[in-house]
Amino acid sequence: MLSKPASAIRFNRLLLTGAAGNLGRELRPRLRAYCEVLRVSHRSDLGSPEAGEEVMTAALEDKAAVLALLEGVDAVVHMGGVSTEQPWEDILAGNIVGGYNLYEAARKQGVKRIVFASSNHVTGFYRQDEVLDTHVPMRPDGFYGLSKAFGENLAQLYFDRWGIETVSLRIGSSFPEPADRRMLATWMSHDDLERLVVASLTAPIVGHTVIYGMSDNSTTWWDNTHARHIGYRPLDSSDVFRDQVEARQQRVDRNDPTALYQGGGFVTKGPFD
Ligand SMILES: NC(=O)c1ccc[n+]([C@@H]2O[C@H](COP(=O)([O-])OP(=O)(O)OC[C@H]3O[C@@H](n4cnc5c(N)ncnc54)[C@H](O)[C@@H]3O)[C@@H](O)[C@H]2O)c1
Repeated sequence: MLSKPASAIRFNRLLLTGAAGNLGRELRPRLRAYCEVLRVSHRSDLGSPEAGEEVMTAALEDKAAVLALLEGVDAVVHMGGVSTEQPWEDILAGNIVGGYNLYEAARKQGVKRIVFASSNHVTGFYRQDEVLDTHVPMRPDGFYGLSKAFGENLAQLYFDRWGIETVSLRIGSSFPEPADRRMLATWMSHDDLERLVVASLTAPIVGHTVIYGMSDNSTTWWDNTHARHIGYRPLDSSDVFRDQVEARQQRVDRNDPTALYQGGGFVTKGPFD
């Protein structure tokens, strides 16, 4: 966790969705330092709130519950939803209907800034020998990636029509350490995740901005030049793990689609009939 001055508080009330998920659990104690009240939500009961928190339960596909979730909120960090390739019905409920409910609630409750956990799988069918900027056409690698593409388009629509600002974070792989060679390019430390989310919440003007969520890795497939106004400066790097990752995974088969495409294993994954 980053050390913060007492003046770190920038918001009255922030909402964190998906607070019991992997990244939600990381962000929950960190975001408390930036607001008077952190509203944490999940589809199932989170138990008692910590100091400086409110707890609310909401399934994202429950329109009325999501409307109540956004009442009195300054900004949203939206980590909730289906986070891997899953049956279409789950993706539809959590990411498509849930995304719509979230933005409709933001419009009705006057919430002006959302930080949306999108995914690198929006562009997973580009090859690993290509470097993408944030304006390239989307090439999702499955229905999960497609639902994140919908989320980014939703964000664009709600900015163009109603002025609700979003930073769409195309998160690479945010784990304690990179697990394989692919993650040498896609990895983002949890401290850098915090830096990225806070920069996205506090940059003065963002419109709808797309930014790849990665640390300062030597190997990279992504170029965030068009998102420099966000002011995100990663301070960590996968490079310190390179030797051990390469020793563990010595050979890469270039005919294997999971090694060829940026989406890795997601390009062949899926519960398809
Ligand atoms: N962890 C990563 O490296 C990574 C990479 C790319 C994108 N992301 C995105 O970041 C976000 C957080 O990722 P994570 O690793 O914490 O995922 P996670 O699956 O651990 O957390 C997501 C949470 O959302 C909840 N959820 C799912 N469907 C829901 C619904 N219909 N209503 C309410 N809650 C629902 C889940 O129960 C879960 O607790 C996700 O949106 C994911 O797609 C994460």
